[in-house]
Amino acid sequence: MYGVYLIHVAICICFMDGIDGQPLYEDKCHVDEMSRPCNEAYSNVCVKNNPCDNGASCGLTPEGYICKCPAGWQGDHCDEDINKCDGNPCKNGGTCNNNKVAFTCSCAVGWTGTFCEVESAARCPIGWDHHGNSCYLFSKDTQSWNNSSDSCASVGASLVAIESQTEQTFIQNRLRHEFASFMWWLGGNDQFVSTDQTWYWVQTEQKINSGYTDWHRKEPDNPGQQHCLAMRKDFNYQWCDDYCPELHAYICEMTLGDLDFIG
Ligand SMILES: *[C@@H]1O[C@H](CO)[C@@H](O)[C@H](O)[C@H]1NC(C)=O
Ligand SMILES: *[C@@H]1O[C@H](CO)[C@@H](O)[C@H](O)[C@H]1NC(C)=O
Repeated sequence: MYGVYLIHVAICICFMDGIDGQPLYEDKCHVDEMSRPCNEAYSNVCVKNNPCDNGASCGLTPEGYICKCPAGWQGDHCDEDINKCDGNPCKNGGTCNNNKVAFTCSCAVGWTGTFCEVESAARCPIGWDHHGNSCYLFSKDTQSWNNSSDSCASVGASLVAIESQTEQTFIQNRLRHEFASFMWWLGGNDQFVSTDQTWYWVQTEQKINSGYTDWHRKEPDNPGQQHCLAMRKDFNYQWCDDYCPELHAYICEMTLGDLDFIG
């Protein structure tokens, strides 16, 4: 964007390179009506009284001066902020910040990169799987439900709460392809959060049956006896109740921190 303004004092014609204002040469008429050389006219406008904002380069033209705007600015004097966030360049739910020179993205949890286009899997601890906003650990040992819960707690996690079809599908796929264990403890219980045999996710204290569920048909089938939630291989990893002291593999989940990434 170029703005052209007359310099009232400059009558003579100066040829400048327009970038840093250095004269290419001065012609023979080198004196304006006030007997000042061209480079002094240049000086007056571009150096002594620089009309260009935001670090724009000022240069003389035969007609006046010109502002060459740096990235992110427009207008005759480079004082109009270009909205770098137009069309939201930030992906995956990232928020665009229109800064002076460029935009930055504040990425949603689990994403990073200039445009939030990179899954921030690296932020899960080594050995954990990243999916959505969480990290998952699939146990190699078997424990009672209580001890599974304690084991997850000891690494800053909880037994998993499966709250969507995508989360269930992610876990099913992992178990099908990579793990042999027949049964897996999930973080559901109908005994410890409430005593009325209502199933709760212990991690969130939300009622399981008020949200997403994937009970196997007829499950839960032992109310009053089987108080702990599991998934079974022969149920295609759908859910069932089971006796809490049984030793099963288990899945821990930890939520990724609510960090901002500046790309
Ligand atoms: C399991 O944990 C719950 C809640 O922390 C507790 O009430 C219960 O007694 C424990 N059961 C066993 C068998 O340790
Ligand atoms: C649960 O953990 C406690 C404490 O580590 C241990 O004494 C107990 O034997 C464990 N229970 C089972 C069923 O593994």
